[in-house]
Formats: sequence, C-alpha cells, structure tokens
Amino acid sequence: DLLGRESVRLLTLTGPGGTGKTRLSLQVAAELSDRFVDGVFFVNLAPVREPEFVIPAIAQVLEVKETAEQTLLELLKASLREKQILLILDNFEQIVSAAEHVSALLIACPKLKIMVTSREVLHVRAEHEFAVLPLALPDPKRLPDPVVLSRYEAVALFIARAQAARPDFQVTNANARAVAEICVCLDGLPLAIELAAARSKLLPPQALLARLDRRLAVLTSGARDVPARYEPRRA
Ligand SMILES: Nc1ncnc2c1ncn2[C@@H]1O[C@H](COP(=O)(O)OP(=O)(O)OP(=O)(O)O)[C@@H](O)[C@H]1O
Ligand SMILES: [Mg+2]
Repeated sequence: DLLGRESVRLLTLTGPGGTGKTRLSLQVAAELSDRFVDGVFFVNLAPVREPEFVIPAIAQVLEVKETAEQTLLELLKASLREKQILLILDNFEQIVSAAEHVSALLIACPKLKIMVTSREVLHVRAEHEFAVLPLALPDPKRLPDPVVLSRYEAVALFIARAQAARPDFQVTNANARAVAEICVCLDGLPLAIELAAARSKLLPPQALLARLDRRLAVLTSGARDVPARYEPRRA
C-alpha cells in the first residue's frame, strides 16, 4: 500500500509484458478510489508512440481543452493544482522520455498522485518502484498432490482459464505434472498461462506441454552461438 503513504507521489509498477501490471493498477485504483476525492483517472498510453502526445492523451481523459493562450501542460497544471486525483498512466515504456512532464505535473500539483505501469523505470527523482512478480510456481521435481498444487497462483490461473474453455477440466494425478511443467515452462507469466490454458478445449495438458517444448526448441536450437542462458530450461 505504497500509494497510501504521504511521501509516495509517483509509483511505477514494473515488469515484463503480461506480468499483470495493468491488472494490478486497476485493482489498486478500485481499492483506493475513496481516498482520492476528485477521482481516479486511467490513461491508456499503449497507442501513444511519441513522447509529445503524452500530455494531450492525459488532457483528453481529464477533458482539458486546448486554448490559444496557454499550452496544454500549463492548462493541465492549473486544472490539477488543487485536486486530489490519482492518475494512472498505463504502458509508459515506449515513451519514457516523457517522464519529465510527469515530474512537472507532480511539482506543480501538490495533491496529485501518479501510478505508472511500465516495462522499465522512468528514472525520475520522485519515483518509487514496485516490481510486479510472476505468479508463484510449484517445483515439478517435488510435485505435491493435486489439491495443494492447485493453490499455487500460476496453477490456479491455469485451472480457471482451462475451465473457462472446458468446464470439466480438472487437475488429476495423471495430468498434475504436465500442468506444473507448463506453468514453469511459461515462467509463471499470467498472460502466457492464460493463452496456453485457453487451448485446453482441444489439447490435454500433456499435449500442450509437448507443443510448448517443441516451440522452445525451435526458438533456441540451431544456432551454435546462442548463449547458454537462452537454452530452454527443460532441454
Ligand atoms: N494475479 C493474476 N491473477 C489472474 N490473472 C492475472 C494475474 N495477473 C495478470 N493476470 C492476467 O494476465 C493478463 C496480463 O496482465 P496485464 O495485462 O495486467 O499485464 P501487463 O503487465 O500490463 O502487460 P503489458 O506489459 O503487456 O501491458 C491479463 O489477462 C490479466 O487479467
Ligand atoms: Mg499493461
């Protein structure tokens, strides 16, 4: 609950693609919504490719309109100055050089807080980083029984999505190892687990795992000069 602290005004949720940064930001926004009396605003920056379009994107969400006299940044500062607002800037990684505008807003607007999601940190002074970690994984070498296995976050997500594709899906003694290995093979990344589990309609876990293994082998075998760290872990 870093954002609840007085001193934390800029919180950056970091992590690779598909780790759950956007999801976490929305969850935090919902939990903290009553602390920001003037509202929580979500700005999707994924389609923004140029740093100079960041301020216009924020202004659009806040319904701040351009005038001839003042720049959008000035208008935004003026409109946010006294407001207790949480601004969520989602997908900042491709326009990190716009971070200076984020700093400028924070300096001009003392009650404003900003939560950023980004694959990398912004490198500005006010920033606090929170790394969004992959989901908890079982150790396939010491496989627990299906009930305990199902409690690992990664496995729980796999089961939930597999059941959405195929309502009778269950983890059994027969498929537990394959389910665990799929999750490990996908590094506990929620997006990858969801995509894999969605294929459960047609493929049982063992077949799914075999395909994942083959894909990884295709990606990493062949070239002699591929450093060992890129070799698939299960090879
Ligand atoms: N803890 C979790 N439990 C269940 N589902 C999750 C969890 N974390 C993430 N997901 C799901 O994984 C998918 C990817 O999450 P999300 O879009 O938040 O990732 P991201 O880090 O924002 O990715 P990107 O860097 O590509 O924007 C979403 O469908 C999300 O609902
Ligand atoms: Mg995202």
